[in-house]
Amino acid sequence: MKNKNNQFNLASSLVNKVLDIKPIANLARQRARDMMIKRAGKIGVNWIANVEHLKSQNWSLDGIQNQDLNYPAYYTLPFHAYPEGNLDWEPAWEVESAALTVHSTIWSGNKNPQADGDAQLRDSYHENLVKYIKDQPHNILDIGCSVGMSTFALQKIYPQAQVTGLDLSPYYLSVAQHRAQKEQIKEIQWIHALAESTGLEESSYDLVSAFLLFHELPQRPTLEILQESYRLIKPGGYFAMMDMNPQSSIYREMPAYILTLLKSTEPHLDEYFTLDFASSLIKAGFAEPLIIANSPRHRTVIAQKPK
Ligand SMILES: C[S@@+](CC[C@H](N)C(=O)[O-])C[C@H]1O[C@@H](n2cnc3c(N)ncnc32)[C@H](O)[C@@H]1O
Repeated sequence: MKNKNNQFNLASSLVNKVLDIKPIANLARQRARDMMIKRAGKIGVNWIANVEHLKSQNWSLDGIQNQDLNYPAYYTLPFHAYPEGNLDWEPAWEVESAALTVHSTIWSGNKNPQADGDAQLRDSYHENLVKYIKDQPHNILDIGCSVGMSTFALQKIYPQAQVTGLDLSPYYLSVAQHRAQKEQIKEIQWIHALAESTGLEESSYDLVSAFLLFHELPQRPTLEILQESYRLIKPGGYFAMMDMNPQSSIYREMPAYILTLLKSTEPHLDEYFTLDFASSLIKAGFAEPLIIANSPRHRTVIAQKPK
């Protein structure tokens, strides 16, 4: 066993060293991208055409960008192999095709990607929300809403609710707003702000939801976001999140060098994996949370603010 671990550590430090060499990292990025685009084609997602279509629209950050916002250092690192991280048009135009592609293998494996993997992932989260949150939420805040996939989905399952999407990337919010206008989706409010200090009114939401936000954050902002969520949620209301499940056998048994490759595109993964989310929620004031595995590698966490 010790021998096997040594081999993994060696492989993983080799991967790290190789990724430190810029031209090789760029080549690896290009190859990974090409593979993703090919996989997208297999599930009927025309990545290139989708991006070209979005690119051809008129884009501006006017009206959505909060000019007074200072981006924290943890946010301006490269993410998902984009040098500008979340702060550019290219990731904003590509993120939906990328999500559909990445999630296409969750249930069926890399060799057999399925078009409905992303929808299945979202449905499995929503089933838990509907099952465990008995009172229909009227006011919902979706933090880390990106281009709005999670926000539109929440609006669909709670059509009577007023839904707000909040994100730190004005590029993503512009794409979300564009889609809302194009599809004439009911009034959703889009807010460019830090989830850890939203400036929103206290006790004003029945549900604060975070879909795939926390694996992108170091522990400090995560704890601040839990405190801010507690402040925003009405007594008796709920906090819910869906994200990678560090306890799943997929991550626990993942060879170290593959995990290293994954971490090269997700700079704060170690901090997410080692945070005890349940005790952090309790420390922020919430009741004991429910933690439910909702895919082979994801979990739903739901916690109520005491009445
Ligand atoms: C993986 S994406 C979320 C995906 C999205 N909810 C969906 O369903 O497709 C994570 C998002 O969190 C946002 N984010 C990261 N840190 C944030 C922060 N401190 N405050 C607000 N948004 C943040 C990023 O800009 C990014 O859009």
